Amino acid sequence: MKKKIMVTRRWPAEVEKALAATYDCEFNTTDTPFTAERFRDALSRADALLCTVTDQLNADAMAVPSPRTRIIANFGVGVSHIDLNAVKAGKIVVTNTPDVLSDCTADIAMTLLLMVARRAGEGERELRGNLWKGWRPTHLMGTKVSGKTLGIVGFGRIGQAMAKRAHHGFGMNIVVYNRSPVNAAVLSAASATQAPTLDNLLRMSDFVSLHCPGGTENTHLIDAERLSQMKPQSYLINTARGEVIDEDALISALTAGTIAGAGLDVFQCEPEIDERFLSVPNAVLLPHLGSATVETRHAMGFRVVDNLGRFFAGDEPHDRVV
Ligand code: DGY
Repeated sequence: MKKKIMVTRRWPAEVEKALAATYDCEFNTTDTPFTAERFRDALSRADALLCTVTDQLNADAMAVPSPRTRIIANFGVGVSHIDLNAVKAGKIVVTNTPDVLSDCTADIAMTLLLMVARRAGEGERELRGNLWKGWRPTHLMGTKVSGKTLGIVGFGRIGQAMAKRAHHGFGMNIVVYNRSPVNAAVLSAASATQAPTLDNLLRMSDFVSLHCPGGTENTHLIDAERLSQMKPQSYLINTARGEVIDEDALISALTAGTIAGAGLDVFQCEPEIDERFLSVPNAVLLPHLGSATVETRHAMGFRVVDNLGRFFAGDEPHDRVV
């Protein structure tokens, strides 16, 4: 008998086709996020639940006494939307899709950094609004990126990919903050140094890019106090998780000019965003596009297919988180 698979969102057609060839699949043809009730139904009827970052798999959604689901295979690297205690209690395996999205997520972080430093969003709005008066020496002067200091918070695969781009492409000096000591060879690949504390990194950086996990341990890691450690000419980039920044504090810092700008791909209550961001000119805002390339989304999907295949064959999936 084919295993029953529940897929919570639309996936690239090629990946859905590959899943349908092997499993008894239920696809979410309307692509609307599941409610807690629908998750409970899925967990009681399917052998595998294939979810994404938009799925709030909290204790309520996971409250199924004897779930049929044996594996939750996440399409994405971050798993802070999944209640891992409930997963452990239900003896369910969780997998993710690391590696394949590191380059594209670092590309979006670099895009945000360049856009906010060079005022590209403001320029584009001006041009589209038919407000451009032509070239002039003082028009939309931004900040030079080359040679500046980039502080990277969280030096996993995506942080390292960002360091590579910034150091080798833009000659930036790299400082990293990571909870555990980073291997000397990994640091030297981008001539990076490890800061002793996060505050130390914030004080010395011209740009700060967040690449740490979300979840309760890092909620509001960047709060009013931490923002006040940053230089007034510095910029904050977030492609990690929205909850890592206290958005209220960030809006105050941007409005008061205590930092120069921010580039954000993620928000605390996605897809809702705090309306005050919309009137802050020195914020560049993207709708969670980190991994959004055809190549990467395919690779993420096939990484899930591989994890499922190994799990149902009785082997250890490559990307087991729990
Ligand atoms: C991830 O992989 O965690 C992304 O943020 C979602 O694609």
